[in-house]
Amino acid sequence: MEDNHIYPIFDRMLGRKDKEEMLKQHSVMIWFTGLSGSGKSTVAIALERELHKRGLLCRILDGDNIRSGINNNLGFSEADRVENIRRIAEVGKLFIDSGIIAIAAFISPNNDIREMASNIIGKDDFLEVFVNTPLEVCEERDVKGLYAKARKGEIKNFTGISAPFEAPEHPALLLDTSKLSLEESVNKLLELILPKVCNCRK
Ligand code: ADX
Repeated sequence: MEDNHIYPIFDRMLGRKDKEEMLKQHSVMIWFTGLSGSGKSTVAIALERELHKRGLLCRILDGDNIRSGINNNLGFSEADRVENIRRIAEVGKLFIDSGIIAIAAFISPNNDIREMASNIIGKDDFLEVFVNTPLEVCEERDVKGLYAKARKGEIKNFTGISAPFEAPEHPALLLDTSKLSLEESVNKLLELILPKVCNCRK
């Protein structure tokens, strides 16, 4: 990188393996994708609690929280959504490199965006979970009242109403929270994740 006078020093820092050994866990990115109101955050929070109980250190990165902090200059145009997810993936990678299990809950509405995240993080560390609760159910729940506003045209580019959502092609797991209880969703996640992050059992 001599052209821009930037000289990364990763080789002299302690690495991921050192941190993972200290924490006695393997880090991974659990990437929830799905519509607003599909249950991503609720499931992510419940999952974190279960992993925490088992002595596993996690960090949740969540849409509304990140958008009120590090990404508070971004909106919902396609370009801003790409930048939103790019930064989140880079931040997620910092956690993974610190041995911490990262749990991301973002709409991340299309394959290109999710592929970018997976490329930044590394495919082997990227577990995609599609919370495929149907649009009708998300709209019926309308926890934040945003679907009603989107239908009235008060919010532009609203995912599922006036902006597209593209379903993932090969998610590691599908969770329809209109059919599964929270406990069932978390149990499915634990089955998938525990063998990858520790030697412990469910
Ligand atoms: S993403 O598309 O860039 O991945 P992100 O997950 O960060 O979206 O943020 C989604 C949250 O922002 C929604 O749950 C909702 O609360 C809020 N939001 C506000 N405007 C929009 C919009 N136009 N489309 C989707 N979500 C919106």
